[in-house]
Amino acid sequence: MKRQFLADLEPGDAVDDVFFVLEAEGPGNGRRRPVSLRLSDRSGTARAVIRRDAAGPSGDGDAAAGGAVPAAGSFIRARGRVERGRSGTVLVLTGASLVDGSALDQRLFLPGSFRDPDELSGYLEYFRTEVYDEDYACLLSAFLDDGDFMARFRMAPGELRSHHAYLGGLLEHTVSVATLCQHLLVQHPRLNGDLLLTAALLHDIGKVEEFSWQGRLEFTGEGMLWGHVLISQRMIEERVADLGGLPREKELRLLHAVISHHGEPEWGAPRRPQSAEALALHHLDNLDAKLKGYFEVIEGGRDVSWSELSNLFRRPLDEPRAADRALRR
Ligand SMILES: [Fe+2]
Ligand SMILES: [Fe+2]
Repeated sequence: MKRQFLADLEPGDAVDDVFFVLEAEGPGNGRRRPVSLRLSDRSGTARAVIRRDAAGPSGDGDAAAGGAVPAAGSFIRARGRVERGRSGTVLVLTGASLVDGSALDQRLFLPGSFRDPDELSGYLEYFRTEVYDEDYACLLSAFLDDGDFMARFRMAPGELRSHHAYLGGLLEHTVSVATLCQHLLVQHPRLNGDLLLTAALLHDIGKVEEFSWQGRLEFTGEGMLWGHVLISQRMIEERVADLGGLPREKELRLLHAVISHHGEPEWGAPRRPQSAEALALHHLDNLDAKLKGYFEVIEGGRDVSWSELSNLFRRPLDEPRAADRALRR
């Protein structure tokens, strides 16, 4: 179990724990310069150097000089001490051995949602009971009762940047969109609630295949080439086939809402929304993403009136000062 987090380490502390290698460089300059690393865990990042006499994976004293330099993207068990360097604190390592990342709990190495995943999963169960159409309910169960799928769905990020870019972000966003849809159904009862809620719950499922989350959030090959909209379509079609088919009209309307939820071709939608439910899903999905993105910008911002330009919106955002921010919570 991981006990040490980078943000808590102080000069003088002994280090002995597992970290992710974000960047690795060296040894340079005829091996006189030590191997230089940027390590990370869920608390942040830190610079580290491996001493030239450090123990490698085989304990043979050549982690820095031989072929055992940890590659970026790997996990290492790092042993050494925190020192105060010329450009801030640095972990000076006397040992660095590779660790199998697939066996590690990734929540220790990546930021996660503040929301309780069990509570959020409870909302999914509630929304399932709100879908009365037997075909759509059956399709939802095919996903929600699949333990392997749900384990990935609960862990996946919502995005790599911009909004919900943390473990559990996909589940949080999905529950939020479904909640918004349910509110809208009160105001517009002519909407097909079974279709809208099913589409809301399934619209982004492709993100479980679009992203990977081993030490850092990245696109998978399929995610890079297809994107989650098309992957979601494929995953739904596969489940429908497993179930022996859905009435064609219901399948078409559901798939239309899913593949058009980004609204415009330049935002990644193969089709623009052409039904009331698809329009509703697109706007509520966008509303949730943009509002969450706004709050993430201002939470990371300085105590000034306007945000920097370099944000999701590419325009300055009204940043409430700290006192106002506290009032808004
Ligand atoms: Fe999406
Ligand atoms: Fe979405």
